[in-house]
Amino acid sequence: MSLINRFPDDFIWGTATSAYQIEGGANQGGRGRSIWDAFCDIPGNVVNGDSGEQACDHFHRFAEDVKLMANMGVGAYRFSISWPRLLPNGTRDNVNQAGIDFYNRLIDCCLSHGIQPWVTLYHWDLPDDLQTSDGGWMGEKTSGLFADYAQLCFEQYGDRVKHWITINEAWVVSVLGHGQGVFAPGHSSNSEPYQVAHNLLLAHGKAVKIYREQFQSTQGGVIGITNNCDWREPLTNDPQDHAAAQRALEFFLGWFADPIYLGDYPQAMRDKVADRLPEMTPEHKALIQGSSDFFGLNHYTTMLASESDGDVKDQNVYGNGGLSEDQGIDLTVDKDWEKTDMQWAVVPWGCRKLLEWIAARYDNPALYITENGCAYDDELVDGSVNDQRRIDYYASYLEECANAIDNGVNLKGYFAWSLLDNFEWAQGYQKRFGLHHVDFKTFRRTPKNSALWFSKMLKRNLD
Ligand code: GAL
Repeated sequence: MSLINRFPDDFIWGTATSAYQIEGGANQGGRGRSIWDAFCDIPGNVVNGDSGEQACDHFHRFAEDVKLMANMGVGAYRFSISWPRLLPNGTRDNVNQAGIDFYNRLIDCCLSHGIQPWVTLYHWDLPDDLQTSDGGWMGEKTSGLFADYAQLCFEQYGDRVKHWITINEAWVVSVLGHGQGVFAPGHSSNSEPYQVAHNLLLAHGKAVKIYREQFQSTQGGVIGITNNCDWREPLTNDPQDHAAAQRALEFFLGWFADPIYLGDYPQAMRDKVADRLPEMTPEHKALIQGSSDFFGLNHYTTMLASESDGDVKDQNVYGNGGLSEDQGIDLTVDKDWEKTDMQWAVVPWGCRKLLEWIAARYDNPALYITENGCAYDDELVDGSVNDQRRIDYYASYLEECANAIDNGVNLKGYFAWSLLDNFEWAQGYQKRFGLHHVDFKTFRRTPKNSALWFSKMLKRNLD
């Protein structure tokens, strides 16, 4: 059976981006500074001293980008709203009308091409004023200000936006931003991540409460959160390695999904980091439990987990290890696995296993893969980009998504990361995830072969 026919007719196909990675126009249209502008200003934080100041210039070229999606035949576009573009200082005391207008134009443009906007409210670009004056996500105050900002978005856009994602990858904000310090705001600590994670969950819960109480019945949309997780495969059949892999998943995804679906942090975390894990009070639990209409998942790769021999090997493995010393786990990869240019292993069956793990643990929720994709150092040659490895990656991961659906997983949509080559955070512009090549001097976009492949698949023209 052809790949597309293995998915239900109402399956959502989309592409994803985020504001700081593509918009540019950082100093235009009244936008305030974010913690990523501040982080990029510090030499050594980002490869080549890159920043998102211009990025893909999507701020000016969004109509062209929506056309690229329309040409691909996707039905949904997941983008994020830049909080400091709407509220330059982070609070509703100062609303930037030019920012409001920009997203109105973008949303209307999507809809006029038959593309449903899926809006992420927080993809890491916290208004810098909230960091410098209120301690950012370390303070509970920020969670209330996030809910105020979310309310503004529901008021302005909720008549047309029917899919909301509160927070993108709270794990990254907590671990990479406040644990390893490799992402904004660049803090290194073994306790901050747990406090930040708690405040992010509260921010999510407060925004969802407002949406449900004041908007959902009239606007008729849904709201959820997107978490990221790699698969953790036991290194050996030893029960200790099985337990280690399970614990690793609980520390990665259970950290955020257990409070939402089960009402508290995973037992493994309560046992191992009791000294630093904030208490889930009855008030917090009331806000957080049951606060997601769907399960958003970003997934890229797999690692092998084993019981730690006490000598932590993967500390500060960019993006993968997390706070491994707290978990008692060693992580490795099979040397035979192919790796992308992010050094992330290509393991399609890990995607299926993770989907099945989520379905089993959280009672088979409606699931959307809100990001999946790969970085390869593509070259534009004679007007085209032959990115066969990316096509193979997508085809193999989608086969496993279809297998998961066959096995009963309630997977309802898939968003490819990313529509465009973009600013890949601390890696700058050197890591390319896009379905479209972007020349960062001229901003010219060229569909890669992977975009053409997607388009053929979606239009049912794939052999
Ligand atoms: C995710 C993130 C995206 C993108 C992607 C590839 O963690 O949400 O913004 O950078 O990884 O690294």
